[in-house]
Amino acid sequence: MSEQAIGVFDSGLGGLTAVKELIKVLPQENIIYFGDTARVPYGTRSDSTIKMYARQDARFLLSKGVKLIIAACGTVSSVATELYDSLPVPFTGVVVPTATAAVRATRNGKIGIIGTPATVNSCSYKTEILRQDSRIQVFQQACPLFVPLVENGFIAADDAIVQLVVERYLAEMKSEGIDTLILGCTHFPIIAQAISDYLGRNVVLIDSGKETALYAANILSSQSLLNTSHTLGSCTYYVSDTVEGFRKTADVFLGRSVEDTAIHISIDQLTRS
Ligand code: DGL
Repeated sequence: MSEQAIGVFDSGLGGLTAVKELIKVLPQENIIYFGDTARVPYGTRSDSTIKMYARQDARFLLSKGVKLIIAACGTVSSVATELYDSLPVPFTGVVVPTATAAVRATRNGKIGIIGTPATVNSCSYKTEILRQDSRIQVFQQACPLFVPLVENGFIAADDAIVQLVVERYLAEMKSEGIDTLILGCTHFPIIAQAISDYLGRNVVLIDSGKETALYAANILSSQSLLNTSHTLGSCTYYVSDTVEGFRKTADVFLGRSVEDTAIHISIDQLTRS
């Protein structure tokens, strides 16, 4: 059982920020990643569409025999909550681990949350934070322009367009005096430097990928599912759009070039899996 892979999925390539952290925390684990690059973005779609896509993505990973599934997508984790109880293997999204880290990090009890419109509308992070500590003040902001900015390579902290959009979205939270900010979307760690430059060094940024990787390690450990072999694990990537497109952009999220196997799976195959 322990040599079975961990399944990770996201609406596109942003979930690779979680894979990057997973490789650091659990280098011996095999990973199967599915990025729904043909249907990204999810974050501006209706709840029923997001739920349907998430079910198909999880089913595809199950067909690969994974031992744990991680929805490394803020939008799926926030909207497709029925996945928590409906899968035959352990499952985690990013909301609980990330909210837990934010509650632990705040010193003044003011936490900001940024995500896609679907994530912010769901109030998922807010609900979890208040469940853990009802005294905390929460400030939410949907940041739909961050995803296309990152996808189009506007990521440099000194890029005037990035700075302008960051200021537009975060000015209110800044004036409220938040000391902790949840990067509630897979794409946002890529522009963390610009966000941090604007908010100041005293504001702690919580990266959902990193927190979820640590959380997943705990699940595997508590259920005796860790791969105890001493060799490095492998990664296999499946994408619903072209492999060439994946290879062109993946290194931005993964922090290194992708040498591992990448396979195209059509939406037709996906929906039949
Ligand atoms: N992966 C999505 C998330 O973390 C961002 C991209 C999208 O909208 O699909 O919310």
